[in-house]
Amino acid sequence: MAKIGVLGSGEVGGSLAKGFLEAGHEVMRGSREPSKLSKWKEGAGPKASIGTFKEAAAFGESIVLAVKGAAAGAAIDDAGPQSFAGKTVMDTTNPIAEAPPQNGVLRFFTDLNESLMEKLQKKVPAAHFVKVFNIVGAAAMVHPKFPGGPPTMFICGNDKGAKAEVTKILDGFGWETWDMGTAEAARAIEPLSILWCIPGFIQSDWNHAFKLLKAK
Ligand SMILES: NC(=O)c1ccc[n+]([C@@H]2O[C@H](COP(=O)([O-])OP(=O)(O)OC[C@H]3O[C@@H](n4cnc5c(N)ncnc54)[C@H](OP(=O)(O)O)[C@@H]3O)[C@@H](O)[C@H]2O)c1
Repeated sequence: MAKIGVLGSGEVGGSLAKGFLEAGHEVMRGSREPSKLSKWKEGAGPKASIGTFKEAAAFGESIVLAVKGAAAGAAIDDAGPQSFAGKTVMDTTNPIAEAPPQNGVLRFFTDLNESLMEKLQKKVPAAHFVKVFNIVGAAAMVHPKFPGGPPTMFICGNDKGAKAEVTKILDGFGWETWDMGTAEAARAIEPLSILWCIPGFIQSDWNHAFKLLKAK
């Protein structure tokens, strides 16, 4: 059983914190204002705690980064980059720009030749970032139920050990994992969130996930 620091008071932090607690781990959720998570803590059991970004990052043997994409760098600065060194960082973020979607198509503040995760990996070279969970809605991140069987989670990152750890977590959460390689692959994985959101914005359908079909 591990200690997981979850940076994020939003839906993603809530869904993944619940999943990790159900799997028997200890979880500290972090926020700039931890008091906003007091109610969550009351209902989350003895293995749940709350703190600042700094406290949650220091607590975690592994870290979930579940903050607004545009604020990810600031949140890491606030948490203290030294607390990320040598740890697996599950990066759920998407680089969504402030401008509204255009006909259901989100706008990004990155371009196709450099992803947000690569920027974060460069910012904290000693951390082991793995892109994960960014291509599905928070409600389906843990034990997704779809008639076509387990959906596919695309992951990438530079550290093989961190990706093995994340693959094991995904196995437990009911996903099929497809490792797309090094951090550069986040240039392709992050924009899948744009595709995933289109049916949501144009026809209020948020209940779907990707599945990769293979010949063998
Ligand atoms: N919602 C989904 O279904 C979904 C699905 C896939 C991926 N994602 C991605 O996952 C991430 C989390 O999404 P979310 O919907 O759970 O929450 P969110 O509303 O995107 O982010 C909330 C978190 O961002 C932090 N934050 C916002 N502005 C900040 C700033 N200026 N400085 C530092 N921290 C700041 C908040 O801190 P405080 O706690 O201090 O307020 C909070 O913890 C996002 O990058 C999103 O694109 C979301």
